[in-house]
Amino acid sequence: MNKERKPVPTSVEMMIVFLVIFFTTFQGSFGVANQPHKQAKSKAANGFGSSLIFPVTGDVYPKGYYHVTLNIGRPPKPYFLDIDTGSDLTWLQCDAPCTKCTPAPHTLYKPNKELVKCNDPLCASLHWPENMPCESPNDQCDYDVQYADYGSSMGVLVRDTFPLRFTNGSVLGPHLTFGCGYNQEVPDSIHLPYTDGVLGLANGKSSIVSQLHELGLTRNILGHCLSTKGGGFLFIGDDDLIPSSEVIWIPMLHNPSEKRYMLGPARLLYGRQATRVKGLPVVFDTGSTYSYFNSDAYKATLSTIENYLNVNQLKDAAEDQSLPVCWKGTKPFKSIRDVKNYFKPLILNFTNAKNLQLQLPPEAYLIITEHGNACLGILNGTEVGLRNLNILGDISLQDKMVIYDNEKQQIGWVTANCDIIPKSSLSPSLSVPSLQRPPATRGSQKEDL
Ligand SMILES: *[C@@H]1O[C@H](CO)[C@@H](O)[C@H](O)[C@H]1NC(C)=O
Ligand SMILES: *[C@@H]1O[C@H](CO)[C@@H](O)[C@H](O)[C@H]1NC(C)=O
Ligand SMILES: *[C@@H]1O[C@H](CO)[C@@H](O)[C@H](O)[C@H]1NC(C)=O
Repeated sequence: MNKERKPVPTSVEMMIVFLVIFFTTFQGSFGVANQPHKQAKSKAANGFGSSLIFPVTGDVYPKGYYHVTLNIGRPPKPYFLDIDTGSDLTWLQCDAPCTKCTPAPHTLYKPNKELVKCNDPLCASLHWPENMPCESPNDQCDYDVQYADYGSSMGVLVRDTFPLRFTNGSVLGPHLTFGCGYNQEVPDSIHLPYTDGVLGLANGKSSIVSQLHELGLTRNILGHCLSTKGGGFLFIGDDDLIPSSEVIWIPMLHNPSEKRYMLGPARLLYGRQATRVKGLPVVFDTGSTYSYFNSDAYKATLSTIENYLNVNQLKDAAEDQSLPVCWKGTKPFKSIRDVKNYFKPLILNFTNAKNLQLQLPPEAYLIITEHGNACLGILNGTEVGLRNLNILGDISLQDKMVIYDNEKQQIGWVTANCDIIPKSSLSPSLSVPSLQRPPATRGSQKEDL
């Protein structure tokens, strides 16, 4: 079919894609005195025996993001952080004071006096491959992180305590490094992620996972299970949770300029039918709500799906502006179950790994909008400036346990029921004494200023 495609609506242009494109460095002024940081917990003597499990809140549609609640500081206060396997730096909107902060669920984080110095390895890793951003090694470490959706956060690296309950029952308060963001740019969207910041989970040194590993607290492994019903869980550390069989493991692709979780090359199939798309590298990025294919793969996907659509059952729904491509039935769809039979799974065959497959059933690439239409949750990445990158966002990672093993340098997945949070899970937010107080009121940012 050769149809006129409607232009990408604002809500899509503005979708949050937490994909770091680059860091720039600058020397800003920041009113917190320097103070040497305290050394965090020493390495656990008997290796790693424990992990962290965080319940996840959110959904692909209508919210558009998944977040965890972390407690930070002394006394600890809760913050909602968007989980992002596509970037390293964790940051919080911060009262430093804040030049430009966006509405957030909790009061702004107030930094303590622990500034990270410019000669800190984490500062260097954040600015890599550029040179050290500092004139003097004792300077504060400024950061400026830019995301693919033109959002950004600018601030300074700080250290503070994160009270965490490990699955073995121990509660520790490791000092972790993160960004105190006092200048955020967000895409001008009506669907802003309603969070206090971002939890960076990519494989760079500055990511929370690497830091916990460096401190000897957890293994350098993380995983998530995001439910199509909303919610799910995130874990860091031990592989106790990972089923020993059935997981499909594929070695990560290495590209020196890419600090992201990437697999490939993959061949794209629709049901049993191979498309002409092959050699596709794909990035696993929970910071992106939807998936993105490069222009060519996108075109092939769209035309293949449309080729197989029964035009008597499904028609173009150009009037639905939720996403660029939508279909309607004879009556509004209530759930994905109503359309499942009209579509086949999209399949990625990893040709360097014995054709091991990542199967994307219709619910991993379609949403049912509030108007009762089915819309394609795979978007044209070239159109939003991603060039040749292909991204598997939240929508395509749902209802699977996806595991990133940075030690063995492989990514694995297995179909899972993400509604069941593992028993050992104790929300760290329920385990710290200070949280016996009522939670902070929503939108109470102003109280604090
Ligand atoms: C529990 O796990 C943490 C993190 O790995 C470790 O530091 C602690 O010593 C462990 N506690 C016990 C009682 O084994
Ligand atoms: C894709 O993988 C499946 C299962 O591994 C294999 O049977 C099939 O031939 C592959 N198809 C293509 C086009 O590579
Ligand atoms: C994808 O976006 C690019 C860049 O805007 C455009 O040239 C191309 O036609 C688009 N592809 C499809 C199939 O819409």
